[in-house]
Amino acid sequence: MHILQSRLLDIVKNSYPEQDIAKLLTFASPPKPELGDIALGVFWLSKTFGVNPIELAIQLAGLIRQSPGIVSANATGGYVNVKFDDASLVELLGSCGLPVCHFYEVQPVAVVDYFGANVGKPLHIGHLCAPSIGQAIINAFRHKGYRVIGDMHQGDWGSLFGKLAIGYRRFGSAEALEADATEHLFEVYVKLTAAEASDPSIAEEYREAFQKLSRGDPEMVALWLSFTQKTIHTALELGKRLLVFPDVMIGEAFYEGIGLPTLGNYPELRTSMSEVVAELIQLGIATENEDGSVGVIFDESTKIPSCMLAKRDGTHGYLASDLACVKYRITNGWNPEHIVYCMDVRQELHVRQIFEVARLWIERSEWGKSIAIVPQCFLAKNGFLKLKDGAMSTRKGNIIRLGALMDEGISRVDALLKEKWVALDVKNTEAIAIGAIKYSYLMSDREKDIVFDWDKALNFEGHSGPYIQYSYVRAKNILEKSGWKAGIALSEAPALGQYDRQLISMLAKKEEAIDSMLAGYKPHHLAIYAYDLATTFSSFYVHTPKLLDEPDADLKNIRLEMVERTLRTIEEVFDILAIPLPERM
Ligand code: ARG
Repeated sequence: MHILQSRLLDIVKNSYPEQDIAKLLTFASPPKPELGDIALGVFWLSKTFGVNPIELAIQLAGLIRQSPGIVSANATGGYVNVKFDDASLVELLGSCGLPVCHFYEVQPVAVVDYFGANVGKPLHIGHLCAPSIGQAIINAFRHKGYRVIGDMHQGDWGSLFGKLAIGYRRFGSAEALEADATEHLFEVYVKLTAAEASDPSIAEEYREAFQKLSRGDPEMVALWLSFTQKTIHTALELGKRLLVFPDVMIGEAFYEGIGLPTLGNYPELRTSMSEVVAELIQLGIATENEDGSVGVIFDESTKIPSCMLAKRDGTHGYLASDLACVKYRITNGWNPEHIVYCMDVRQELHVRQIFEVARLWIERSEWGKSIAIVPQCFLAKNGFLKLKDGAMSTRKGNIIRLGALMDEGISRVDALLKEKWVALDVKNTEAIAIGAIKYSYLMSDREKDIVFDWDKALNFEGHSGPYIQYSYVRAKNILEKSGWKAGIALSEAPALGQYDRQLISMLAKKEEAIDSMLAGYKPHHLAIYAYDLATTFSSFYVHTPKLLDEPDADLKNIRLEMVERTLRTIEEVFDILAIPLPERM
């Protein structure tokens, strides 16, 4: 809530001292800017008191009108349109630049699980989704003062490893592995799968290799480490280009608890997967079948289908590792308040199973009863990403690589700039390309399936990343030309026009946009705010042609302050969304 909203709240509060007024009032923009700066909605308040909203609005309008700093307050329907005086708007603008303060006794922690790269599998365009969403959520939490742990949770375990090891032994080369481990392992994997069709003994061979790895066989562990380190390194390099930076890389293998090397220093694991399975059996959450396998049957009311925790041969799957992971995150000293999983919709059932088992586990176990904070677990699921031609693949049937998508973006931006006779260096070109790709993804509700369209993503005049980047660069240019400095005192509040007011009101909505984003873990709320700000700035700019030659010094100053605030706000919002900004365009 910004300062003018809380001023209205205070006025109304006087009449309803025992109500939590903040929950019963809504703030919006009047349908036409001439009508005022804020439209106060009284619907919920009228409902609570069982009065007619139209009459209540009239009554409140009278009350507000008499308060200082108000130019007009008029009721229409269940709303009061309020116009503040110029000094109030100047004050609002000043407050937009203040940092958000946090007073925590103990700083809250959030864990975000979000990259999920798999060893031996190249990143494809689908990997734009969860990493982009997750990083935005991480940055928004940090903005709110949280300590955040972004966990890559890489897929570095499973019988797949036996396959990679045997495939590498048969078809691999050390040089190719050194040059590009991920692509090479992928190639080797495809070759082995083809060979397997005519030679069924191969399957036995790689199962054995995986068993050896599970028992800590040094040769297998060395291969595992080399494959894992190299693939994750490449994934992180790609992530860096997208401004995605996981803090920890604790993969599935870690939870096996066999002391494999880790990619960093992490709190130790106290409960391995087999101990998790034993614990869950003992608590009556999982059951051991006659053949030695272990499964979970959920209560009928949950409508969750039953699932496997351990196979007959004692090996554990994906679910067991995720359960060990939940307990680890809760009991290793992090004490998270939130654990957010960013994954695609195909994993929804898997995650529901994790959450339900975790809930029962915390309820029934000694450790669960003693934890200080029971974290809120949430799945921020994403839909599918397709290219406009309907496929995620090229004609050859290869899945389009994430790196190739970024490179194509860069060459497309290059071509566009040439058309416009603009020369930019690589850094700025890349910022525009990545900005276009990421914005066009983040502007939509993450739950929807998204069709990626280059023409839309790179439309400098449309709802796109480059459009907002352009507003940023324009604001920067104006400021540079003006020689404006912060902190110039006004002699009096200048007479503001409608476009000034609109821009100030829009600038003041940033925190609200970040709150809406975090409320549903949906970055598009903030992405759309950035666009709304850019369009508001653009109409301000178009309607203020004399900006730099304004004779009224106070007015010129306040307008330059608005330009500066726009610049900083776009910067802050793009920082949270992890979208790059060019210096020039
Ligand atoms: N590696 C997994 C995949 O590619 C994603 C991991 C997601 N995180 C998790 N905690 N299961 O499907």
